[in-house]
Amino acid sequence: MPEIRVESVSHSFGDGSTRRQVLRDVSVRLAEPRIGIIGANGSGKSTFVRLLNGLVQPDSGTVTIDGRDTVRDGPEVRRRVGFCFTDPDAQIVMPTVAEDIAFGLRRRGLSRAERDERTRRALTAYGLEGHADHPAHLLSGGQKQLLALASVLVTEPDLLVLDEPTTLLDLRNAAMVRRLVDDLPQQVVLVTHHLDLLDGFDRVLVFDDGRIANDGKPTEAVAAYRELAMR
Ligand SMILES: Nc1ncnc2c1ncn2[C@@H]1O[C@H](COP(=O)(O)OP(=O)(O)OP(=O)(O)O)[C@@H](O)[C@H]1O
Ligand SMILES: [Mg+2]
Repeated sequence: MPEIRVESVSHSFGDGSTRRQVLRDVSVRLAEPRIGIIGANGSGKSTFVRLLNGLVQPDSGTVTIDGRDTVRDGPEVRRRVGFCFTDPDAQIVMPTVAEDIAFGLRRRGLSRAERDERTRRALTAYGLEGHADHPAHLLSGGQKQLLALASVLVTEPDLLVLDEPTTLLDLRNAAMVRRLVDDLPQQVVLVTHHLDLLDGFDRVLVFDDGRIANDGKPTEAVAAYRELAMR
């Protein structure tokens, strides 16, 4: 598994009177296959995971993935770290399903035939083969989430970051995404408010006001989160 190292990271948004510190001297090393992130709204979860592919650059401290710095080695880090947003519409960029999947493969030095073959395999793997030429924006919410995942996974990242991938989904589609995530060979960092998604995870971090308030097995971390929420 890749090794994620976050060292003394602090981060604020805004300037002057609107300045707000969102991460407060966070240090953690993560090398487990399945890592969950939970915590209250606004506690810094999305900001934290956005550090992992350089979408957010820390004000101070460093973030490395297998020794590669997310700021200094940005392009290399982004090739290795796939990122899925909560809202698949935010990352579906091409008109049709197949074109959207193929889009992630541009600038990878692949031949046209290789790109087509990888796209075809991804369509089949995610149950989208019947939709290859359909307009992506006409898919259902669950299908869009699968497309967003397929478009990231086709690039074969070493680490997959998922920020609330099931929030917009019904039970059936949420279960489908869960199975898909369970079966991935890659390291996964998953942010969620659906605590039962984390059953069987190796490690769960609880964020509270920009700090890691608990770090342990799912049952322990979820109990700590419940306690924080009741305070
Ligand atoms: N681009 C931004 N500009 C300004 N403030 C931001 C930005 N992104 C996040 N924030 C602020 O940082 C704080 C933490 O946000 P973050 O999105 O990391 O929280 P979260 O834990 O993911 O919450 P949620 O559970 O609601 O998704 C919030 O107060 C938010 O308003
Ligand atoms: Mg968030």
